[in-house]
Amino acid sequence: MKGIILAGGSATRLYPVTLSVSKQMLPIYDKPMIYYPLSTLMMAGIRDVLVISTPIHLPAFERLLGTGEDLGMHFEYKVQEKPVGLADAFKLGEDFIGNDSVALILGDNMIYGSNLEKVLKEASKLKKGGIIFGYKVADPTSYGVVEIDKKGNAISIEEKPKKPKSNLAVPGIYFYDNDVVSIAKKIEPSERGELEITDINKEYMKQGKLRVIPLGNGYAWFDTGSPERLLDASDFVKAIEVRQGIQIACLEEYAYKNKWISKEKVLLHAKKYNKTEYGKYLKSVIEEKTWN
Ligand code: DAU
Repeated sequence: MKGIILAGGSATRLYPVTLSVSKQMLPIYDKPMIYYPLSTLMMAGIRDVLVISTPIHLPAFERLLGTGEDLGMHFEYKVQEKPVGLADAFKLGEDFIGNDSVALILGDNMIYGSNLEKVLKEASKLKKGGIIFGYKVADPTSYGVVEIDKKGNAISIEEKPKKPKSNLAVPGIYFYDNDVVSIAKKIEPSERGELEITDINKEYMKQGKLRVIPLGNGYAWFDTGSPERLLDASDFVKAIEVRQGIQIACLEEYAYKNKWISKEKVLLHAKKYNKTEYGKYLKSVIEEKTWN
C-alpha cells in the first residue's frame, strides 16, 4: 500500500501566521506538524509516501524530509497548483499509486491512541473497497459526518451538514483500493467548488464497499486548522510527552520498529538531535527502554 500526505491548501484560518509559512510546517509542541500524519502512515507500515503541497511550500517539505532514505523509506513530491479539493490527491498521485491500494492522510490531522498501530496495520491490508474512521465529537458540523447502522455499515455520509444525522465525524485518514483513482476522475466539484473526499466515500458506499471503523473513547483526534485547535494539539502532546517521558510521532522510532533502519542509523540520528529530548528519547529507543 502507498501513502499520500496532502499538505497544501491556503490555511486562511491561521492568517497571519500562514501568510508565508506552510500550516503543515508549524510546530505541534516540539515537532513540525507533518511529522504526525507521516508517523501515522509509518504506523500502518506504509513505506512509500507522496507529499503534495503548493508550488511555494513544497520545496520546504523536500528540505525537511528528503528522499526518505534516512528512514529506510521512499518519498516523492508533487505540486498541487490550486487547492481544488482533497479528492484531487488521487488524480495528482495516479502515477505514484500505480496498481497499488493507497492511504490518504491530511497534513493537519493528528490521531493518537494506544491501539492505533494495530487498527492501522489491519486497515493497510485492505484489498477491496474503502475504509474510513468515525470519531464521536460534540459538534460535527465542520466535518464529514457518517451515519452507521447497527452492524457498522455506512448508511449516509455528508460533508459539513447543517443538521448532522450522527455525531460521528470522519477524521482525515482514508484507505482505498486502486479504484479510487478512476472514481476521483469522475467526481464533479461540489457547491463550494471542491472535489470532495466525501463524494469518493459516497461512491464506495453506493457500491456497498465502504467500511467504517469507529475510534472509541481511547483515541484523541485533532485537526489543527485554527489557532485554538493548534494550541489544543500542542498542549495534548506536551502533556503526554512530559508526563510519560516519551515522544509522539518520533519518525526514527517507527522506522526502527518496522525494521527499516538499523540501531546504528538510529544512533546517528540521535547524535544530530543530542541537545533535545527527541535525541535522548532516540537513544532510549535502541536501548529498548521505552517499549511496553
Ligand atoms: O479534518 C477532517 C475533515 O477534513 C473531514 O472530516 C472532511 O470530510 C474533509 O472534507 C476535510 O475537511 P476540511 O474542511 O477540514 O478540509 P480542509 O479544506 O481544511 O483541508 C484539509 C487539509 O488538506 C488541509 O491541511 C489543507 C489540505 N488541502 C486542502 C485542499 C482543499 C490541500 O492540500 N489541498 C486542497 O485542495
